[in-house]
Amino acid sequence: MNGDWYKDRVFYQIWPRSFKDGNGDGIGDLYGVYDKLDYLKELGIGGIWFSPFYPSPNADYGYDISDYYSIAPEYGDLDIFRKVLDKAHSLDIKVILDLVINHTSDEHEWFRKSRDKDSPYRDYYFWRKGKKEGRAPNNWSSFFSKGAWTFDPETMEHYLHLHHAKQVDLNMDNPAVREEVKKIMRFWLDFGVDGFREDVITYISKPAALPDDLFFQAVKGLRFYDCGPRIHEYLQEFRTDVLDKYDCMTVGEAPMITPQRALTFVSGNHPDLNMVFGFRHMEADCLYKEYLPLPFSLRKLKRAFTSWQNALNGKAWNALYLENHDHPRVLSRYGSERYHDESGKMLAACYLLQKGTPFVYQGQELGMTNFALPSIEQYEDCVARKQYENATKVLPKKFVLRIIQRATRDNSRSPVQWTGGKNAGFSDAEPWFPVNRNYPSINAADEAADPDSVLNFYRRLIAFRTKSRIVRYGDYRELLPLSRSLYVYERTWQGETLLVICSFTEKAVRYRFPKGFAAETAELLFCNYRTAPFDAETGGTARSGRKPHCPRMTTRPYETRIYRITKQ
Ligand code: NOJ
Repeated sequence: MNGDWYKDRVFYQIWPRSFKDGNGDGIGDLYGVYDKLDYLKELGIGGIWFSPFYPSPNADYGYDISDYYSIAPEYGDLDIFRKVLDKAHSLDIKVILDLVINHTSDEHEWFRKSRDKDSPYRDYYFWRKGKKEGRAPNNWSSFFSKGAWTFDPETMEHYLHLHHAKQVDLNMDNPAVREEVKKIMRFWLDFGVDGFREDVITYISKPAALPDDLFFQAVKGLRFYDCGPRIHEYLQEFRTDVLDKYDCMTVGEAPMITPQRALTFVSGNHPDLNMVFGFRHMEADCLYKEYLPLPFSLRKLKRAFTSWQNALNGKAWNALYLENHDHPRVLSRYGSERYHDESGKMLAACYLLQKGTPFVYQGQELGMTNFALPSIEQYEDCVARKQYENATKVLPKKFVLRIIQRATRDNSRSPVQWTGGKNAGFSDAEPWFPVNRNYPSINAADEAADPDSVLNFYRRLIAFRTKSRIVRYGDYRELLPLSRSLYVYERTWQGETLLVICSFTEKAVRYRFPKGFAAETAELLFCNYRTAPFDAETGGTARSGRKPHCPRMTTRPYETRIYRITKQ
């Protein structure tokens, strides 16, 4: 875990089921990935994160693993993965896998065996007696259902699952479980992968007594299983016993973490992990989860971005993202479908030039959008279904469906739109999940041919950031933190400044450039409009050759501009 290579690359997340179908069964697979590696190379991608492709009953689409050592037949087999890996490496693309070790599927053989009270596997999981008859062992709630415990009438005990009842929490306090985890890590690292994205890794250590959540703490989002008592010890053990022996990296998913707490995982001489994914910036239009919608607040988003940039500066390395398979499409949330191309590009600029390693989620580079389905039966996500079932007990069905349409993770799980042809070029067969109706106008083939597309903007920006030392090393400073419409930040390094201006509104906003900015010397590197005028009274436009002397601009809808300013 020594190489710094992950700092100079842009990663791309593949959620295999919806990426590209290569064998004609309507389900995305590794054959499809193999065919698209050149596309990723052209995008400038230097690493791939695969969401789980292991055998799974798919209660939570792959995050309920029943065998850690092979590949689900619908996605391929180890041979095709070998080919994908070799080709990726030949293109200088690293590959990391999802390591889901907080829980296994209830169909994993460990859990099956653990149903027998006398089996050594019993202690692989949390089997407990209820407090009283008919009552769960504690009051923990699950993210995907009501209670975090399910009762087994055969052994008269309950088992713990923080997520779906088919995702059973592993007991990491059991040394045998930790040995299993290390064995899984070694298997894939020996196979040649370059690291792991570690699923809900901050939940893997539970306090031995499994105490009740306290109401006031729970309201604030504090849980006993979050960053539990032995979390650092276990992550250090994984690092020392396995990861240190390979040139690999890790990025941990840390749902509730603050940047200060993140430092305890990612800073110091021998950090537990290389990076963590925080969540705060994904909550700028909702309360913790998208299911509690609020109006979008740019100030919330900026506070989240800036607090992470500042806290980690010089101490640790950030993981940057705006989309993944757990959130609706960002263009439909923080951007505007009406200003599709403009806001798609602006959103790219708002995070790709921050300090850290960016992750792009499949289809984000095309500006894929949310997609409302007309009935709940068409949604596949277990969370959407559960939320619908619960909420419709007290709220009108139509109203609940509208929230689901906006909030469901399925928004980001529709097939990638490759062409304007049949099934968006995703598959010759009927896709496993409906294709977004807007594919005739939003698709990779058309965007590749259009120099002004969102895709080509991503390509140029990624190419720029990958070789830019200022993006790698520069300090970050936010300007205008109080603005409700503009996000402006600069990166400064060795006498050079990058100024990034992002408008999050269709309204015209007057912006005065910072002191020292001279229109004559500032080089406009990127803009999402064809021209980049300064205000009329300033006497000219950047391209007109006339020199503006009072650098001010009035933004156009979702405008972004990136300037390079070199000290004279
Ligand atoms: C986080 C994953 O990203 C999400 O998709 C999954 O449902 C939960 N962890 C449980 O594994």
